[in-house]
Amino acid sequence: MRCPKCLLCLSALLTLLGLKVYIEWVSEPHLTKAYPGARSTPPDPTPASFEPTLPANLSARLGQTGPLPSAYWNQQQWRLGTLPSGDSVEAGGCRAWGTAASSEIPDFTSYPEDLRSFLLSAACRSFPPWLPAGGGGQVASCSATGVPYLLLAVKSEPGRFAQRQAVRETWGHAAPDTRLLFLLGSPVGRGGPHLGSLVAWESHRYNDLLLWDFFDVPFNQTLKDLLLLDWLGHHCPDVTFVLHVQDDAFVHTLALLEHLRGLPPTWARGLYLGEVFTHAKPLRKPGGPFYVPGSFFEGSYPAYASTGGYVIAGRLAPWLLQAAARVAPFPFDDVYTGLCFRALGLVPRAHPGFRTAWPADRPLQACALRDLLLVRPLSPQDSIRLWKHLQNPQLRC
Ligand SMILES: *[C@@H]1O[C@H](CO)[C@@H](O)[C@H](O)[C@H]1NC(C)=O
Ligand SMILES: *[C@@H]1O[C@H](CO)[C@@H](O)[C@H](O)[C@H]1NC(C)=O
Repeated sequence: MRCPKCLLCLSALLTLLGLKVYIEWVSEPHLTKAYPGARSTPPDPTPASFEPTLPANLSARLGQTGPLPSAYWNQQQWRLGTLPSGDSVEAGGCRAWGTAASSEIPDFTSYPEDLRSFLLSAACRSFPPWLPAGGGGQVASCSATGVPYLLLAVKSEPGRFAQRQAVRETWGHAAPDTRLLFLLGSPVGRGGPHLGSLVAWESHRYNDLLLWDFFDVPFNQTLKDLLLLDWLGHHCPDVTFVLHVQDDAFVHTLALLEHLRGLPPTWARGLYLGEVFTHAKPLRKPGGPFYVPGSFFEGSYPAYASTGGYVIAGRLAPWLLQAAARVAPFPFDDVYTGLCFRALGLVPRAHPGFRTAWPADRPLQACALRDLLLVRPLSPQDSIRLWKHLQNPQLRC
């Protein structure tokens, strides 16, 4: 090699490029998920069913009415009684479901790696809490802190310290009757840096981290929903509403509370409220984001609320857990929640104030928030700036 410096330069460039690709890959779950054909629905004033029910045969509710379908998910749903539970030893327990999937799906080996890992462990859903060494950092149950009207359950990832701190300093502490909790997987990443001691410190300092011992990767986000529902049953059964939200959202907490307090009581009892997508279809481009192979799922997605932020009635928690035990695993958390609601016979309600992509025609200013309840994505800096504007008593829109 005639130019050793060039080689050095080249390898430095490649490293930077690699880093960029890694950062983009890591931030992928924060993309807005609008699958093709998805239409954002206008608010629907027609009351559908208000009370959850769970029929013995879910097939008709989930649209599996024809002859035995060929895609694996649809077949499973057609046959499924209940999923094996995490600790059941009979027939290999929860891992057996994944092993069967890997041998029964003809082109399983051509599936993307994350989808394969998801399927192998998809029926394993009971994970212990991740507790910091040295004890402490436990999250108090609602009976000890007062039952909140609205629980703010923020999906975060161990490394996103700045996003969590921005939420704590802004909309996360804005109102009485609310309680803030962050949902995280294990800070001991797969191949990533070991964030255990930093997260342990944070957990002791704020007591607002619910941590579980599973890998915090995009296809494991449904675990946070299910483990939170389980936690609610044990520690906060009387909460009125739960906001499921991402850590890069900005919530107009007071406006949201006002909206919830004004809902007709019948609506409120079966609430699933957010930015609703209907008629969305799976993406079929191999290697693209949110790719779903045709041999895995056929048909359209159910109507679902964007994972960016949606509110559910707290009393539905045990119902959703029962539904989840009988709805076949699906890799995307928002679609899966939509499927569970559909299994219960409940429909999502759209509100135009939920914007899970910042409206392009509005500058990032407090007045742009006047009729919004929740927007994303915002950087921690932008959230703090917006929050300060909102606090200004001279603010007139
Ligand atoms: C469940 O319902 C579907 C559609 O209505 C029907 O085709 C199927 O035979 C039913 N399965 C059982 C076990 O009753
Ligand atoms: C989700 O976490 C579990 C437990 O850590 C792990 O076995 C599984 O592979 C993870 N899922 C994915 C898609 O990586």
